Amino acid sequence: MRAVIRSQYGGPEVLSVKEQTTPLPNKDEVLIRVQRTTVNRTDCGILRGRPFLIRFFSGLFKPSTSSPGTDFAGVVEQVGNMVDRFNVGDRVFGLRDAGLASQREYMTFKASDAIEQIPEDVSFNDAVASLEGAHYAYNFINKVKIDQGSKVLVNGGTGAIGSAAIQLLKNMGAQVTAVTDTNHVTALEALGPDKTIDYTKTDFTVDEIEYDFVFDAVGKSSFDPCKKLLKPTGVYISSELGPGAENFYLPVITKLKGGKRVIFPIPSNCKRSVQIMIDLLSKGVFKPLIDTVYPMTSIQDAYTYVESGQKIGNVIIDYSSH
Ligand SMILES: NC(=O)c1ccc[n+]([C@@H]2O[C@H](COP(=O)([O-])OP(=O)(O)OC[C@H]3O[C@@H](n4cnc5c(N)ncnc54)[C@H](OP(=O)(O)O)[C@@H]3O)[C@@H](O)[C@H]2O)c1
Repeated sequence: MRAVIRSQYGGPEVLSVKEQTTPLPNKDEVLIRVQRTTVNRTDCGILRGRPFLIRFFSGLFKPSTSSPGTDFAGVVEQVGNMVDRFNVGDRVFGLRDAGLASQREYMTFKASDAIEQIPEDVSFNDAVASLEGAHYAYNFINKVKIDQGSKVLVNGGTGAIGSAAIQLLKNMGAQVTAVTDTNHVTALEALGPDKTIDYTKTDFTVDEIEYDFVFDAVGKSSFDPCKKLLKPTGVYISSELGPGAENFYLPVITKLKGGKRVIFPIPSNCKRSVQIMIDLLSKGVFKPLIDTVYPMTSIQDAYTYVESGQKIGNVIIDYSSH
């Protein structure tokens, strides 16, 4: 089989495609013929081993797995003799945001982990693009209580996290304002927010609406400028640590002070996220935003593009094309 390989931390240049031995599943695992993975911002962090904290999961001095990858959509090729959840031929998708070495033609995965059957009529592209960004979006949402009519502003509305967050929030009955630049207004509006702000024309931190929550899904702003958007007990959540890593300590300070608060959304429970996405995909109420699909041989280009911070939604690798 062909696999994306890297033996050290670094930029996209450390990646190459090489022949490797096809793995065999343990008794509690399935062997999966990978059809698609995404290349996402988590992959980019693991590729470079940055921030350093990530190395406690991905290997302190060098990567602990030979292949990168955090998600997959594919077909079960073989099942371990203790596995009764899956059969050969099942279309499956799954996620482990600490890394699962999925960027190769075949991979093994524990059947009790965050892996589920892809709902009927959902393509491999849509399945794989409903994992990483949606997982982090759900982990913003599950840190607070969204009610019918809750007012939420999503900065970075066309990112993988932002585009999923808008759709999850709309499904929960929230009133959503989303922020993007001029080039992506049309793509953003297709996701169904109630209001769109073009940040190249308008300062999004000055708005007539008072929000219950500001989700900085791209981490480009910070608590201070967003404070004035919030109701007296409103909450600011960011996907990044912010200037001087303030989102690390502001949750404690703002909780002690009372009033407007910061929460840092430490993600957990990939399995729950995959199950939530199955429900939404099955009902046809979630349509992931997809930017570009690359063949496996263009893996360096895919990482370079994702690292630019300018992709919209999801970048996908197709392992069935040559
Ligand atoms: N906390 C965690 O565990 C965790 C996990 C994964 C990712 N992250 C971080 O979360 C962030 C978002 O991840 P992602 O995958 O959603 O990112 P992404 O898909 O790479 O986000 C790209 C989007 O950001 C928007 N953008 C770029 N500059 C902007 C600006 N100045 N203001 C507003 N929007 C801007 C762009 O849209 P426009 O051109 O329309 O502005 C583009 O659509 C990344 O910084 C990533 O490192 C954190």
